[in-house]
Amino acid sequence: MPALDSQIAIAVIGAGAMGSGIAQVAAQAGHPVFLHDQREGAAEAGRASIAKQLQRRVDQGKMEQPALDALINRIQPVSALAEVASAGLVIEAIVENLDIKRGLLSNLEDLCGDDTILATNTSSISITALGAQMKRPQRLVGMHFFNPAPLMALVEVVLGLATDKTVAETVHATASNWGKKPVYATSTPGFIVNRVARPFYAESLRLVQEQAADPATLDALMREAGNFRMGAFELTDLIGHDVNYAVTNSVFNAYFQDSRFLPSLIQQELVEAGRLGRKNGQGFYSYRDGDERPAPQTEPDCDSTEQVVIAEGDLGPAQALVERLREAGLTVIERDGTGQLRFGQAVLALTDGRMATERAAVDGIANLVLFDLAFDYRKAGRLALAAADQTSARALQDACALLQKAGIAVSRIADRPGLVVMRTVAMLANEAADAHLQGVATVADIDLAMQAGLNYPKGPLSWSDRLGNGRVFTVLNHIQNSYGEDRYRPALLLRKNHFANKGFYA
Ligand SMILES: NC(=O)c1ccc[n+]([C@@H]2O[C@H](COP(=O)([O-])OP(=O)(O)OC[C@H]3O[C@@H](n4cnc5c(N)ncnc54)[C@H](O)[C@@H]3O)[C@@H](O)[C@H]2O)c1
Repeated sequence: MPALDSQIAIAVIGAGAMGSGIAQVAAQAGHPVFLHDQREGAAEAGRASIAKQLQRRVDQGKMEQPALDALINRIQPVSALAEVASAGLVIEAIVENLDIKRGLLSNLEDLCGDDTILATNTSSISITALGAQMKRPQRLVGMHFFNPAPLMALVEVVLGLATDKTVAETVHATASNWGKKPVYATSTPGFIVNRVARPFYAESLRLVQEQAADPATLDALMREAGNFRMGAFELTDLIGHDVNYAVTNSVFNAYFQDSRFLPSLIQQELVEAGRLGRKNGQGFYSYRDGDERPAPQTEPDCDSTEQVVIAEGDLGPAQALVERLREAGLTVIERDGTGQLRFGQAVLALTDGRMATERAAVDGIANLVLFDLAFDYRKAGRLALAAADQTSARALQDACALLQKAGIAVSRIADRPGLVVMRTVAMLANEAADAHLQGVATVADIDLAMQAGLNYPKGPLSWSDRLGNGRVFTVLNHIQNSYGEDRYRPALLLRKNHFANKGFYA
């Protein structure tokens, strides 16, 4: 279906944070825009805030004044809902409440033409439920922008049970014309992003609860090893714990309390304490003037005069580490084996989801030290290590020294299953795999959504493929065995792909 022509008027209902941003996006694409809010003066204030934002771009020489003036002139605040009747697409971004949204949609149906597309920016309400009482539910579609709408590229185009496919296609093509990256999703709780992202927060919270490491260390590992823009604690401090906890609870309850989505007691306690994050000065970190963020745990210089590393077998996704060690001036001797590095007394291996203590005992490896997944071992600035209880202090020193010689900061964490980045990526891929199996979205759209909506360094399904067929499945199997919890059950598709020896993109 073709996109809506830029001559066609767009109406935005609700001139709050999202509505104003969406109005700006539509006006930037050349559409006349009606902006309506039931609160007196809110639509004018919305337009004024857009003008103020864009004036900065003019002042920086990034936009011409006439272009700004023309854009602002295209946005028309309207005080009566009836004034939006001629719009070809109406996007509602009012309060997140089913009954209020239903009331608005019913009024819009009476006011607008039969062909008008009605779109909702809801984050959490079912499109099917919103359409249930409509006369023309086939004309209703989710158009889920991310905050701030002018900056975030992702738009989830969400189809309810009754949504006409051609309506969704028109909205998809229009969002694309507006410079966005649209993806299709079926109306299921959390759509794509708010569902698939849950483990990003949940696994870090769980690791803190189990005293694997402190928030600053886990954040640093997710950034410096995982290549994520932010770790879970700094990000939830920014989002606000009330908001993030509410989304987690809503998804948890919407999936009938599936333990995959279990909320965290740690986050609940922050909310109860009123430590909501940056917005009120205290979350996991303090944001009061003069307070500094605690430093991540970093091992001091680990001495070792050893210069020879023995690389045994294929290290899989960590193979690039061998090259990095060689470039750092170490002598690397390669020989057959099961994917381990020997240095001094230490035997280092990439986590396979088991605790080091268990793996050392079951596989009969003395002095085992596990290291975490890195997005790119050639560039990682930091890596987590976890030693088995049986491992000698000398062996741990050697393992630490080896990474330090390659210029990698070492954070030593307690021995828990799957370390930090590996465990998080495995659980993200797990959720993505289930979302795909359940028909929520295509593999490519899920990956695009996680990258465009949350700036992940890679989509979780293509990341899973990059780790090698079956690896995420094995890691999750081991984590599930360790905890005996349903939460870590591997998704059926991961299991199937493992036995078919293929990836999601194969
Ligand atoms: N804030 C986010 O990060 C975000 C991201 C994506 C989607 N959303 C969704 O977007 C919608 C709006 O969120 P927001 O953060 O912009 O909220 P907001 O509180 O900033 O703005 C909502 C606006 O809607 C107006 N309003 C309420 N009821 C109305 C009605 N019946 N008719 C006309 N105007 C009405 C309010 O006066 C207010 O100005 C919600 O559905 C929310 O779930 C929010």
